[in-house]
Amino acid sequence: MSFDSIVLAAGKGTRMKGQTSKVLHPIAGRTLLYFSVKAAVEAGSRRAIVVCRSEDREGIDSYLVASFGRDKIVSIVQEVPRGTGDAARIGLEHCETTHVCILCGDTPLLESTDLRPLVALLAEEKSALVVASSKLSDPTGYGRILRDASGRVICIREHRDASAAERLVCEVNAGVYFGAIADVRATIATLKPNNDQGEYYLTDIVEAIAKSGTVQARIGRSETLLGVNDRVQLEQAESMLFARIRDRLRLQGVTVRGDARIDDAVEVGVDAVIGAGVELRGATKIGERAVIDTGSILTNVAVGADTKVLPHSVMTDSTVGEGAQIGPFSHLRPASVIEDQAHIGNFVETKKTRVRRGAKANHLAYLGDGDVGEKANIGAGTIFCNYDGYKKHTTTIGAGAFIGSDSQLVAPVVIGAGAYVATGTTVTQDVPDDALAISRTRQENKLGYAARLRGRLAAQAGKKA
Ligand code: UD1
Ligand code: MG
Repeated sequence: MSFDSIVLAAGKGTRMKGQTSKVLHPIAGRTLLYFSVKAAVEAGSRRAIVVCRSEDREGIDSYLVASFGRDKIVSIVQEVPRGTGDAARIGLEHCETTHVCILCGDTPLLESTDLRPLVALLAEEKSALVVASSKLSDPTGYGRILRDASGRVICIREHRDASAAERLVCEVNAGVYFGAIADVRATIATLKPNNDQGEYYLTDIVEAIAKSGTVQARIGRSETLLGVNDRVQLEQAESMLFARIRDRLRLQGVTVRGDARIDDAVEVGVDAVIGAGVELRGATKIGERAVIDTGSILTNVAVGADTKVLPHSVMTDSTVGEGAQIGPFSHLRPASVIEDQAHIGNFVETKKTRVRRGAKANHLAYLGDGDVGEKANIGAGTIFCNYDGYKKHTTTIGAGAFIGSDSQLVAPVVIGAGAYVATGTTVTQDVPDDALAISRTRQENKLGYAARLRGRLAAQAGKKA
């Protein structure tokens, strides 16, 4: 049985109360819409035909094509949101298969495993239409599946149009419909906007088809139909997605503690440990046996095998090699490259800087626009003075160089391999290999001076020294 899927994604999303179109709201590092399209594609859809608002079409199209490929995605516009029935009618104009699956773009917990049994039911050819349903203890807001005395599905009634007796029904419409194209097309053409909202309801095809054929409602997992209509439901859905992702990783051999929030696209190697309160965002990749400790936040970061990220480090658009150590409290800003066995310690900030193999900056430093050679040592309080108010300049440090504490390296500047910068030096000129740079004034000790000073100051204040 070949089928195209129509994904309804053109609603205004009024209940989200904001500028962003509902189906483009981020959730677990993707968009709401991504998950419905993924379920449809993985369940075997030939293509996903996404019906969207004209202002969203371009963004939706490029996002989905990047994820699923050009041949899987067709995006089309519903100019006026006249209801789910109207959106489905527009989608049907682009279907080229014998059967069709229609689903909503706002049900991010739906998976292909929820769709496949419906395809199988329809393939048995005993029913003209198969819909997904669920039993809820609180069905408020959802369309109700109404059955006759013998249990045959007769129609779906929206909550706002339902009578008090109908509202007691707890089997609800999950918003997924499978049918033969010809039947669905014919019935959609007959829809009338005779309801509380004056919209064309897709749900009304059930009553029309049930008059001449059999409609089956298959009761599935209740979480799959959690439709995101407002930001309370967005939060509920995201929490459930994060819980799923944590369990998926645990079953793959990753230790995930507590409530870590790990985006859907993140990859984590076997025996890695992800601490409580950690956020792994975007396209982050964590190597085998790496440890990302409590409260660290990594966005689009690649971390190599056996690397330890100690608590409360913040890292963005950066790469860390194998066996390295970062944190606690390190800040890796974009384009930081920390190579194998390098150490970045507490209160060290890096930006657009390569810290080569085995180099160390263990405490309190700013390394911006730099290149730190292998096994170089950067002392506490070192600053790369990279900005003159107009341009950024580069600091280059050779292999094995030693930068004493509290030094300022005024870029552009090159410190040679094996060079030594004395503590407290302001480096304004290049330092040759193996040279010592020192720019501080010589120390002088004035013997007994402190005691004399205390005596004088105490006398002035009328107190004992
Ligand atoms: C819909 C169902 C309801 C079901 C619920 C499950 C209808 C009439 N009702 O209600 O029975 O229990 O989903 O989540 O279908 N959309 C368009 N164009 C439009 C209107 C909506 O593309 O003109 C899209 C929306 O972007 C959304 C989807 O259709 O992704 C569903 O619309 P929504 O307004 O959320 O319907 P619900 O009230 O949730
Ligand atoms: Mg909805």
